[in-house]
Amino acid sequence: MRKCDIICHMKDLMYFYKKAIKKGFALGAFNFSNLETLKAICSAAEEEKSPVIVAISEGALKFLGEGYIFPIVNQAKKEYKAPIFLHLDHGKSFEICKKAVDLGFDSVMIDASDLSFDKNIEVTKKVVNYAHKKEVYVEAELGQIKGIEDEISVENNHFTDPIQAKIFVEKTNVDSLAIAIGTSHGAYKYKGKSELKFDILSNIQKQLKDFPLVLHGASSVNQELVKNINKLGGKINNAVGVDENLIKIAVTKYNIVKINMDTDLRIAYTEAIMRSLKNNPSNFDPRVYIKEAQTAVKNVVKNKMKNLLNSSNKA
Ligand code: G3H
Ligand code: 13P
Ligand code: ZN
Repeated sequence: MRKCDIICHMKDLMYFYKKAIKKGFALGAFNFSNLETLKAICSAAEEEKSPVIVAISEGALKFLGEGYIFPIVNQAKKEYKAPIFLHLDHGKSFEICKKAVDLGFDSVMIDASDLSFDKNIEVTKKVVNYAHKKEVYVEAELGQIKGIEDEISVENNHFTDPIQAKIFVEKTNVDSLAIAIGTSHGAYKYKGKSELKFDILSNIQKQLKDFPLVLHGASSVNQELVKNINKLGGKINNAVGVDENLIKIAVTKYNIVKINMDTDLRIAYTEAIMRSLKNNPSNFDPRVYIKEAQTAVKNVVKNKMKNLLNSSNKA
């Protein structure tokens, strides 16, 4: 499989997935769609001595412009002393995954979870065949994760079937699998208390011993920040995330090796900018408030690595 170059200390992503299973930690996969967020994530990884995955959605690929992504991430890999992996998040077709592989991504996700089981296998296999030839890792999704994002919309959760998961992995030769056990995308995850289906996770793990599993939609949605955004004029009503204690159990007791978070970074970024503009009404230099947003994102990521993912000092 892909050997990361010297920048990643000669360690590749699978090395960290295996280490994560053994030592009970997970790599954070943090979405970014601008340079400031990318640098905040990488700087947090360096300070925490943690491996990290920086993730680009199809929406972010369009927003940033595909030609910019590999150069800025490559520069970050040179600048920050941490194992940094560039990943395509929720690639919905073979074509977009092929594009990411060709652009130099370390890892791609083919998300054909909205297709039938057989079609999902077919598309995933096609991506695996292409990506593995170029030593790029492939994550797939089985079951569906609720929530609405730019390019993703799923009405209801369809939990992953453990037996299907085993067949899926055997037939596709995929490297890791995103599973649906009760998390969802975005800031409105639950009507009441958050819940994860650990019985399903446990059965998946019995079927797929020592296989890297991935949890999407893992933001906890900090209520203090949401309150502050609303106080400053925002309108984010009834936002509820996943209880961090549940994520901790998934990380330490199960083979969850990658945890995806985007919403928490967006909330921290936005709250910091709103607060900065409120506190400095005469400032019109974007560097001032963007710097504050960058610091806020960095603190969120550091905190996740230390207190949630247990990935500090694992680089
Ligand atoms: O899971 C998806 C990510 O949160 C990306 O969202 O499509 O709005 O960039 P996006
Ligand atoms: P959140 O919306 O919970 O941050 O999840 C993001 C995600 O799963 C990206 O793939
Ligand atoms: Zn996701």
